[in-house]
Amino acid sequence: MSVGIDDISFYTSNFYLDLKSLADVQNIDAEKYYQGIGQEKMGIVGADEDVVTMAAAAALPLLERCERSQIDTLMFATETGVDQSKAAGVFVHGLLDLPNRCRVVELKQACYSATAAIQMACAIVARDPRRKVLVLASDIARYDLASSGEATQGCGAVAVLIGANPKLVEIAPESGRYTEDVMDFWRPNYRSTALVDGKYSTKIYLTALKQAYSDYLEQGGAEFDQLDYLCYHLPFSRMAEKAQTQLSRYTHSERDKEALDAMVMPTLNYNRIIGNSYTASIYIGLASLLDNPELELSGQRVGFFSYGSGCVSEFFSGTVMPGYRDYLHTDKHQAMLQARTELSYTEYLKFYNFECPADGGDHRMPEQTKGPFRLEAINQHKRVYSAR
Ligand code: HMG
Repeated sequence: MSVGIDDISFYTSNFYLDLKSLADVQNIDAEKYYQGIGQEKMGIVGADEDVVTMAAAAALPLLERCERSQIDTLMFATETGVDQSKAAGVFVHGLLDLPNRCRVVELKQACYSATAAIQMACAIVARDPRRKVLVLASDIARYDLASSGEATQGCGAVAVLIGANPKLVEIAPESGRYTEDVMDFWRPNYRSTALVDGKYSTKIYLTALKQAYSDYLEQGGAEFDQLDYLCYHLPFSRMAEKAQTQLSRYTHSERDKEALDAMVMPTLNYNRIIGNSYTASIYIGLASLLDNPELELSGQRVGFFSYGSGCVSEFFSGTVMPGYRDYLHTDKHQAMLQARTELSYTEYLKFYNFECPADGGDHRMPEQTKGPFRLEAINQHKRVYSAR
């Protein structure tokens, strides 16, 4: 029996800022963003959206094909939690009308936690192959205005269904890990924006990549040149190029630059126009790869490098299943992205500066999202969600 990804779908907000608008205000060349960090647009959430509404929207298409009663466990991975006590996944459980006989939990370790959830989900399914586990990863990347991280903001959610004999990607059991206590990026409980030591964070990311990959090899994983594609954690798209150069040198790969680029470029299409979606980003990268109409991926081996600042990382691989194309949500993804509204810089500032009321009153949220779910109100400190 094999275990892996049975279905995958993602969602991002209806609003975005083109990074040229940011560059114009900063009086710098937009190519620094378009080429230098490889980003064109960043997703911006409306006041009535959060990680719950995005995750529920990402999961909706999966429920068209999967019996709700099969979902044994819902794991919600995020570093943008909405409550210190209640798991964001419990709100999603309600919005999606999932069965009461289901366990729900929230996981956190910066951008890494979705991978922890997927590995744990595979273990649950291996124990009882009748079960399916719904893994939701949802995040909103926010940095201070005028900080180095501002251009690497973004938002998005991905829903991944883990099951036995999967339709999309079989996940191999070998995996390599690397953890080290470092302060490259963090967000204390009293802050709504992350703090980051930008250049240091990229160095630590690359160190963790080498370490996790060498552990993966020691655990019996595939040689670099046996991998056909690579999904990296994507804080910004150029990071994947830096990672690919690093790993190919480290492994003395015989592939030339063109072949190395071809392994990662198809994973970047969505990230370039969404921005950093933290723990969701690596799996939105997988959706970008699978959705590519020009590639026939059946039987191809995909490597995954998951990195979460702080830091915890993991390298593993999977194989794309024959017939995978029949189970994708490509058209929905494309339609959702095409329906987005561009914000001017002034509108972006308004969205950015919106502060969630925290006084315990009855507050209706401005109607902004066109997505299937919204945060309708915050009343007596309770979040009230609804379907649109
Ligand atoms: P910066 O100082 O804004 O940019 O910081 P820079 O000056 O280093 O320029 C970036 C690149 O653009 C450079 O290329 C320039 O040469 C190039 P590189 O040297 O890297 O090859 N450039 C141009 N290219 C073309 N035309 C031009 C031009 N001008 C310059 N005109 C930094 C960049 C990434 C540090 C910043 O954006 C940042 O702090 N971002 C946030 C932190 C981050 O994303 N770190 C990534 C690793 S950590 C991670 O992945 C975890 C994370 O997702 C969080 C989590 O785990 O939860 C962040």
